[in-house]
Amino acid sequence: MKLRLPLRTLTAGFFVAATSLFGAGSATITIHTDKPGAKINPAMWGIFFEDINFGADGGLYAELVKNRSFEFPDALMGWSRPKSEVGSALVLDESPFNSANPHYLRITSRADSGFSITNEGFRGIGVRKGEIYDFSVQIRAAEGKPSLTVQLVSADGSGLASERLKNFSGDWTERKVRVRPTASEPKGRLSLIVEGKGAVDLDMVSLFPQKTWKNRPGGLRADMVQMLADLKPGFMRFPGGCIVEGNVLTNRYQWKTTIGPVAGRKLIINRWNFEFKHRPTPDYFQSFGLGFFEFFQLCEDIGAEPLPILNCGMACQFNSGELCALDQLEPYIQDALDLVEFANGPVTSTWGAKRAAMGHRAPFKMKLLGIGNEQWGPQYVERYARFAKALMEKHPEIQLVSSAGPSPADDRFNFLWPKLRELNADIVDEHCYANPKWFFENTHRFDSYDRNGPKVFFGEYAAQSDKVVSVNNRNNWECALSEAAFMTSLERNADVVRMSSYAPLFAHEDAWQWRPNLIWCDNLRVFGTPNYYVQQLFSRNRGDAVLPVKLELPVSASSATPKLFASATRDEATGEIIVKLVNADGVPASINLNLAGVKKVYPKAKAFVITSDARDENSFEQPRKVAPVESEVRIPSPAFTHALPANCLSVLRVKAEP
Ligand code: AHR
Repeated sequence: MKLRLPLRTLTAGFFVAATSLFGAGSATITIHTDKPGAKINPAMWGIFFEDINFGADGGLYAELVKNRSFEFPDALMGWSRPKSEVGSALVLDESPFNSANPHYLRITSRADSGFSITNEGFRGIGVRKGEIYDFSVQIRAAEGKPSLTVQLVSADGSGLASERLKNFSGDWTERKVRVRPTASEPKGRLSLIVEGKGAVDLDMVSLFPQKTWKNRPGGLRADMVQMLADLKPGFMRFPGGCIVEGNVLTNRYQWKTTIGPVAGRKLIINRWNFEFKHRPTPDYFQSFGLGFFEFFQLCEDIGAEPLPILNCGMACQFNSGELCALDQLEPYIQDALDLVEFANGPVTSTWGAKRAAMGHRAPFKMKLLGIGNEQWGPQYVERYARFAKALMEKHPEIQLVSSAGPSPADDRFNFLWPKLRELNADIVDEHCYANPKWFFENTHRFDSYDRNGPKVFFGEYAAQSDKVVSVNNRNNWECALSEAAFMTSLERNADVVRMSSYAPLFAHEDAWQWRPNLIWCDNLRVFGTPNYYVQQLFSRNRGDAVLPVKLELPVSASSATPKLFASATRDEATGEIIVKLVNADGVPASINLNLAGVKKVYPKAKAFVITSDARDENSFEQPRKVAPVESEVRIPSPAFTHALPANCLSVLRVKAEP
C-alpha cells in the first residue's frame, strides 16, 4: 500500500470534500475483517408497497377492465355511454350477483344488428400479439335470447380479437371465453356487443392475461412481480402508506374486506383519487383484487417477510385526522388479533380456516405487524399502547412496528421517540423525503442512537430532486447516489437499523400522483430507476455481519461536503468480504483498500459498479442507462489500490481467508 501524503483519520465521518475526491493524495479505507460486528437482519433491505400511482388496480393487479363491477359512484365510469334508438345500457341493483357490490349492467338490444358498450381499461388495455387473454363475466338472461360478442379493439378502432357467447341462463352464471389478439396494442379497448333482440345482465366483466405471475388465474402482472423478485427483498410492507389510514375512517383500509372471493370484496375509493389537486385521478378506486391473501402469497413467492400495516383508529392527519374514540377501539384491535390468526393460525381456527379456504393451508409465518402508518401526537401513543398491550398478551411472538411520524426530525418526531422508548416499542418506523443533500449529510444519524432502545425501520425514504410532492421530482442518478451513500450508514448501523425501504414502489406513467418512484410501468412495459438498481445492489450483496470500516483521508482534503462513503460486511456462506463504496465526486479517484485481518485474498474479485451523470435517468427506451455493470477485478493482496469512477456506487466482493 503506497501512501503519498500524511493521512488524517475521520472518526466522525466517512467523507471528504475536494475538487478531486482526495485532494492531492489517496484515501485509505481499512476494513477490520477480524472484528465482525452486528449480525445483519436477513430482512434488512425490503420493499414498500402502496396502491398509489395505479400501483395495484391498473398496475400490479393484472385485471384489464376498469370498473368491472359497476361500483364506481359514477357507475358507468370507464365505459362508453352509447345513446341509441337500438338499445340501452342501464345500471341496476335489483337481485344483484353479490350484495357487497350490488350494481350490475343491463344491456338491452332492440335491433338484430345489436348494441355495444366499450370499456377503456386503465389508460387503455395493453395486450400482446398471440398471447391468450381470459374474458369472464357473470351473466343472466333478462329478456329474449341475445348473444354477447366480446371484442378487443385497438386504439384506432381495428379489431384485434372477437369471440361470441350465447344461450344464457336466467340465473347468474359465470361464462368464460379466451381471446387471442392478432397484434400487440398498449391502448386497446374491450367492446361488448349484444346481438339479437333482448336483454342481458352483466357483472364482474373481467379480462386477464393468462400469463400472470406463476400463471395464476386472476393474478398479478408477471413483469412487475419479476422486478420485485429481482430485488430479492427481505420484507414487503403493505398495503401502504396513507392508504392504510384513509382520509376519513370509513375510507380506511380494512383487511377483512379484501379476502375471500373477489366479487365479494367491497370496492372503495382510493384516497389518491382526490389527494392532489394538481394530479387528480377521478377513476382511481380499490377493487381489492390484490388483497391481503394475495399480499401474503406474493411475499412468500418472492421470499420477503410479510409486514402488514393496520389502521390504529386514526385517519390521515394530513386530512381529517378523524379519531376512533379510545373506548371504541376494540374492533380495530380485534382486526389485528384476527390478522395474526389469518396469517399464522391453524386451519381449525376461524381465520386460519379462511386462509385455508383460499388455498393456503400452511401458515404464512408472519412475524411483524405495523400499528398505524404515519401517525403522530399523544393520540397515537395512547392508541399504540392499547394495541401493544393486547398483542403482547396474545401474540408476544409478533414484533410491532410503530410510527415516528412523517418527518425524520421535527417536533412530532421528538415527541414520539421518547414515548415509544418508554413503551418499550420493538421497531420504530422513520420516514424521510428530502433533497439529496440531506441524504449525503446525514450518514451519521444512527451512529449516536441508543443501542439498547427500540430498533429502527427506515420505512419510507426517497431523495427528492425538487421538493416533496413536486411534479418535477426526477428519479435521477444524483438522488439515487445520495440514497446509496445513506444506505452505507444504515448498513454500518445494522445493530440499530433493522430494516429499510424506498417509497413509493410503483408508478404508472399515465396515472401517477406522486414522484419519484422506484419502478415505472405502462400497460405493457416496466423499468427500474437508478434508485431501483441501488436498492438491488444493497439487497443482493447484503452479507451477514457488519465489518468495521475506518476511513483515512489525506490532510489536504477539506470536509465541507461529504463525497466518499463506505460500509462493509461478510458473507458467511461464501467467505466473501463485501465492500460498498460511494464516490459522490464528479471526478474519478483511486483509493487504498486494506482488508485488515486477511491473510490471503483470492485474486479474482467481482465488482458491480453504477456510474453516470448526476442528471441521468432510465426510461422505457433506455431502461438500463443507469444500471450496474459487473466485472472481474484483480486483487493482488489484502491491501490494494482500487479505482473509483466519478459519481459511482461500487460493490466489491472479495474472497478472503482470515
Ligand atoms: O409514499 C407516499 C406517501 O408518503 C405515503 O403514503 C405516506 O406514508 C407518506 O406520507
